[in-house]
Amino acid sequence: MNGLDQKVEQVRTLLAEAVRDFSPVVFASSLGAEDMVLTDIIANNRIGIDIFSLDTGRLPEETYNLMHKIENFYAIQLKVYFPDRALVEKFIAQFGVNGFYESSNARKECCFARKIEPLRRALAGKNAWVTGLRRDQAVTRSNLEVSAFDADNGLQKLNPLLEWTNRDVWAYIRQHDVPYNKLHDQFYPSLGCAPCTRSVTPGEDIRSGRWWWESPEDREWNLHVSRNSEIAHGTGVSAQTSGERSAEPA
Ligand code: ADX
Ligand code: SF4
Repeated sequence: MNGLDQKVEQVRTLLAEAVRDFSPVVFASSLGAEDMVLTDIIANNRIGIDIFSLDTGRLPEETYNLMHKIENFYAIQLKVYFPDRALVEKFIAQFGVNGFYESSNARKECCFARKIEPLRRALAGKNAWVTGLRRDQAVTRSNLEVSAFDADNGLQKLNPLLEWTNRDVWAYIRQHDVPYNKLHDQFYPSLGCAPCTRSVTPGEDIRSGRWWWESPEDREWNLHVSRNSEIAHGTGVSAQTSGERSAEPA
């Protein structure tokens, strides 16, 4: 068994044990490259984990296309959570439809309405959730654990790809013919909402295309930053040192 196969086997085991120990378990998918690896492993091994996605209402068209495609491709149903109408209307009335560019506070309010509140609904009643986080994506992610209690959300949080490299992710996608977001072919290593994501050049921080007008230590939406540790300050990982994710899909 080669190194990647071993890593895949570890992920399979971890997810199967999570189902045994924590059911119900859900997987949060942004439809990014890491999440497509996990989707492939969960679907092909019929692991009893439901997959959900937070449709912020501002996602790129390519993400919606992939969302649609994978349901047929894997014969799965993706549970999609949409923002609360009143919260979005309140945000727009207060800050304007693109008010998130104006201040960090406005941006966080928008992320709260379009992501955090729907996430809370998605996690309600669950005992564990799975993410596609990798340690080397950003310094803000360096202290994460593969499995740990998520005190902020009150359930176990599993990061099965934590020690995977960007190369591992793309090797898996290529070997297994996994469908992926076409924006990755256009130098978008990290995908989020359309107005808050742009392409990067090789050598740039892989998250530098996210909320690029803000300082690096602010570039999270608090989904993965414990209130206890808050955001670890730093400039993140460059596309070069992380395996040139932006240049990966040829
Ligand atoms: S983040 O800043 O948007 O959180 P990233 O795009 O690197 O960072 O996503 C990290 C993980 O957060 C994903 O692997 C996925 O588990 C979860 N996630 C991010 N965005 C969404 C989304 N829209 N819906 C569901 N899960 C998401
Ligand atoms: Fe709003 Fe941008 Fe956050 Fe999406 S990423 S919820 S558009 S501020």
